[in-house]
Amino acid sequence: MDSLSIQRTAVVGAGTMGNGIAHVLALAGYDVALVDLNGDVLDAATSTIASNLDRQVDKDRIDADDRDRALDRLRPTPDTADGVADADLVVEAVSETQDVKQTVFAELDRHAPDHAILASNTSSISITGLAAQTERPEQVIGMHFFNPVPVMRLVEIVRGQRTTDATFEAVDELARDLGKEPVEVEDYPGFVSNRILMPMINEAVFCVMEGVAEPEDIDTVMKLGMNHPMGPLTLADFIGLDVCLDILEVLHGDLGDDKYRPCPLLRRMVTAGQLGRKTGEGFFPYDE
Ligand code: 3HC
Repeated sequence: MDSLSIQRTAVVGAGTMGNGIAHVLALAGYDVALVDLNGDVLDAATSTIASNLDRQVDKDRIDADDRDRALDRLRPTPDTADGVADADLVVEAVSETQDVKQTVFAELDRHAPDHAILASNTSSISITGLAAQTERPEQVIGMHFFNPVPVMRLVEIVRGQRTTDATFEAVDELARDLGKEPVEVEDYPGFVSNRILMPMINEAVFCVMEGVAEPEDIDTVMKLGMNHPMGPLTLADFIGLDVCLDILEVLHGDLGDDKYRPCPLLRRMVTAGQLGRKTGEGFFPYDE
């Protein structure tokens, strides 16, 4: 199957990443069923997409007709079986937990059409392991987007052990059609992006714990000294400290090297519910 035959898509999980992925698919002309079991999350996702599209209209990036057509292509639903029933491509973006993703993949395999590609937006979990939950491992692939999805140009496309070239090419072409720059990576923990990013964030947290410098100053070093748009602690707050910890656990567990051990301060903040921007407090305070 080539990507010319991808028209109908479904995004499963309507959190930050899921609603961003649905936004770019709908804007590029694809029909999108946006699935989330939680009606409040679904409502919040729909209004986030509308306000992010409005922001693009205000900045003259798109016109009002583009926005209206994108919203017309979006179909929110709390029913997974209904959402994926006629999809050519399903992108899974549920929480970054192996058991949850594996259960969702088995469910998607039962309800999506036989020809459908099942993609995961996982940041670190094995694509081969997700594929093993299905009867179609050749059609399972990683499609790792970056937050904020409408702005960030990268998509890491992750080949599982049994992913075919046809699946890879369909997804690669789709990513280009979304205006993204795909990079092909193999299925190893954290892929490329998080294998490099998370140790940097973790080291910044060690610097806080050991009192090397104040959080603001650590971020200033990386912004002014290395030209990063956000310092590592602001970025960690933006990603979510719980997500950072989950990814570090995968790197540490699956690569087995103590250089990936999560900083105890990161673990303590997650336990305390200081998860970053989404809870109003992380390394820095946030006003909603
Ligand atoms: N939807 C649509 N447009 C958006 C948007 C959104 N959600 N968020 C920002 N924008 C647009 C703005 O309208 C603006 O558009 P313009 O260029 O037309 O004026 C542009 O993006 C820049 O936004 P702002 O002017 O509001 O703010 P900044 O210039 O400070 O940029 C930022 C914000 C793009 C978030 C920038 O700080 C940045 O690039 N930060 C780093 C982000 C990053 O590293 N993301 C990756 C995280 S890792 C990840 O996602 C992987 C996971 O596995 C952990």
